[in-house]
Amino acid sequence: MTNIAVFASGTGSNFDALAEAIDRKEVEAVISLVVSDKPSSKVVEKAKARGIEVLSFQPKDFGGKAGYEQVILGACREHDIEWIVLAGYMRLVGTTLLTPFEGRIINIHPSLLPAFPGKNAVGQAFKAGVRVTGVTVHLVDEGMDTGPILDQRAIRIEQGDTEEDVQRRIQQVEHVLYPEVVGRLVKGEAETHDKTGITERF
Ligand code: GRF
Repeated sequence: MTNIAVFASGTGSNFDALAEAIDRKEVEAVISLVVSDKPSSKVVEKAKARGIEVLSFQPKDFGGKAGYEQVILGACREHDIEWIVLAGYMRLVGTTLLTPFEGRIINIHPSLLPAFPGKNAVGQAFKAGVRVTGVTVHLVDEGMDTGPILDQRAIRIEQGDTEEDVQRRIQQVEHVLYPEVVGRLVKGEAETHDKTGITERF
């Protein structure tokens, strides 16, 4: 069975969705490790309640990114992690983790990338007045939400929608799309397409 690590620092609704899809045997993987840079976050509580090992830390206790990423790398190796799934981990991943896990770290972002990268993507879309936004799952590279796209789903912003309405619909889509993509990845059936038309299979 494929071991995956979920990196998260928020409420953990995507962690829940993935764990539930695994429980239903829709994704052939095990969440063997949860990593969080916010020890007090809800997702830490949820992971512990499921009996999953948690590595939580305060970045300020380390000299810098390389310091805590070295500890994370050790834990990932100990658990034989094949895929790292970012789900609300609000930090750029550095080379300490990116190099050994190249092409093996994915992220979910609440917009149709490359539109609205970075923080508050739903607010950015709302302010821009777009009628369509959505969700992107992509491989992580050194940039901010810039890696090759694995899948996307669109949602419409209807007349009269509030930002909260859009946020809620985005999350509903995330909870379906993320487990689907992880399921494909662990079976070696996920793909990216680059601008020259080359398809790569993961
Ligand atoms: C998600 O909306 C995801 O798009 C973003 O962070 C949020 C995490 O939410 N990267 P949750 O903690 O999974 O509820």
